[in-house]
Amino acid sequence: MQSRTLRAVHAIAYLLRKARLLQFVDWIYYLKNLAYNRKNNRAFIAAHKAFAVPPAHLAFDAYGHTDWQSYFDSGAADAKALADIVNRENMARNARILEWGCGPGRVIRHLKDNLKQHVELYGTDYNAETIRWCQHNIDGIKFFVNQTKPPFPFESGLFDCVYALSVFTHLSEIMHFEWIREIRRVLKPNGLLIITTHGDTASNRLLSHEKQLYDLGTLVVRGDVKEGKKWYLAYHPKRFVTDDLLKGFDVVLHRQFYPTQDVWVARAK
Ligand SMILES: C[S@@+](CC[C@H](N)C(=O)[O-])C[C@H]1O[C@@H](n2cnc3c(N)ncnc32)[C@H](O)[C@@H]1O
Repeated sequence: MQSRTLRAVHAIAYLLRKARLLQFVDWIYYLKNLAYNRKNNRAFIAAHKAFAVPPAHLAFDAYGHTDWQSYFDSGAADAKALADIVNRENMARNARILEWGCGPGRVIRHLKDNLKQHVELYGTDYNAETIRWCQHNIDGIKFFVNQTKPPFPFESGLFDCVYALSVFTHLSEIMHFEWIREIRRVLKPNGLLIITTHGDTASNRLLSHEKQLYDLGTLVVRGDVKEGKKWYLAYHPKRFVTDDLLKGFDVVLHRQFYPTQDVWVARAK
């Protein structure tokens, strides 16, 4: 989308959010999106009989679309990009890796195929229906529900790596700190953390009063919808990530990952 069009979409979303109408408009868009993808989705399912696709409302809740080809292609591509990072960090054989906020399994279901060594995979999400679907449809991965607030249902120091793709992008400021502390707890000493954030590229969507705060290094949060949902948005200036969020970690990599999200790779101190 052109950046002027995108800014206009965000300005309209801003007004709908303030009027508490965003969820309603989102539901209408869901029905439209479902109808738009119907024919191609039927063809995808016929051609990929062994590949379970999630219920449409769960996919839309997490991704904002119901396009199964895109669910498959983007999941495989992001798993490869993630595995490239993990493979470079020389993970131990049988390492335990957790995806926090795994949604309907878009990425985690492709991960084992891309990793150099055998690992044990765990996925969690606060959406219990999503996790039930993952438990019944994706083999070889342990799935758990977590609550909106910590703790995880795991003992301390269990994981060699925790990753979260597009999860901090939907949290309030206080939950950033509660969850990063909890992730630190379940990571082994020197464990690997991989997260994505809305950085400078995404900040171009911000309205001028928000951009001023962002440029001062302040986390910008757009709420007025349920925390954790796709329209609850957080934008992360570099200063906030390095000085505040990842204070207990050594950053080893920061670069663009998605067109509008950065990836941060860090080791627990
Ligand atoms: C944009 S989706 C991304 C899903 C998945 N990480 C991916 O990249 O395909 C955000 C996910 O984070 C989950 N989420 C949001 N807040 C959460 C929390 N506090 N604990 C666990 N999951 C959360 C949502 O339910 C949703 O599945």
